[in-house]
Amino acid sequence: MRTDSRFPRLHIVDHPLIEHKLSLMRDKNTGTQDFRTLLHEIALLMGYEVTRDFPTKLEDIETPICATKSPMLVEKDPVIVPVLRAGLGMTDGLLALLPAARVGHIGVYRNAQHEPVEYLVRLPDAPNSNYIVVDPMIATGHSAAYAIEILKRRGVRGEQIHFMALVAAPEGIKVLSEAHPDIDIFVAALDEKLNDRAYIVPGLGDAGDRIFGTL
Ligand code: URA
Repeated sequence: MRTDSRFPRLHIVDHPLIEHKLSLMRDKNTGTQDFRTLLHEIALLMGYEVTRDFPTKLEDIETPICATKSPMLVEKDPVIVPVLRAGLGMTDGLLALLPAARVGHIGVYRNAQHEPVEYLVRLPDAPNSNYIVVDPMIATGHSAAYAIEILKRRGVRGEQIHFMALVAAPEGIKVLSEAHPDIDIFVAALDEKLNDRAYIVPGLGDAGDRIFGTL
């Protein structure tokens, strides 16, 4: 994992397998089916690092040989929160690692005055759980920051929240980390910039459209 001196809580998960799969996803000739599979695989690989600080405690078990104490996750059912709709594409990869996890949903759009409007918020009542919020793209960072604000309004503390994205623009990481300096952010790549239509450059285009085949 790499860090970036501008953003102390940003973790860039630059594993060769992730880099290779992300390059395939960036290719405009990669179709929906492959794009989905690759996103699923990267979410799973990133999940390994995102959950690295999840606490374990020693539990009593019996091996076929003897009784022993062995580390187990303290929380078997953390909360995964896809930001709709593209976040759905990273959810199953995390569920493969955390099969007992609960899944909350956050859907937000911007109205004509550019204010965030929540159109769907369904979250478990779990103020003390670990949360992994997922959205493949951190572009302007405003929806990401707003999703975290929704969790915090429900009493979830920053230290319980991990944000996992595939690709981010520096502009978006700045907005998100200034709004919520107390959360850890994991990305597979920190790209160059946003263009004047708020697309990430070089990016991979519209992640939602490429996942759901709505191009
Ligand atoms: N959302 C996307 O899906 N892609 C971008 O480049 C920016 C925002």
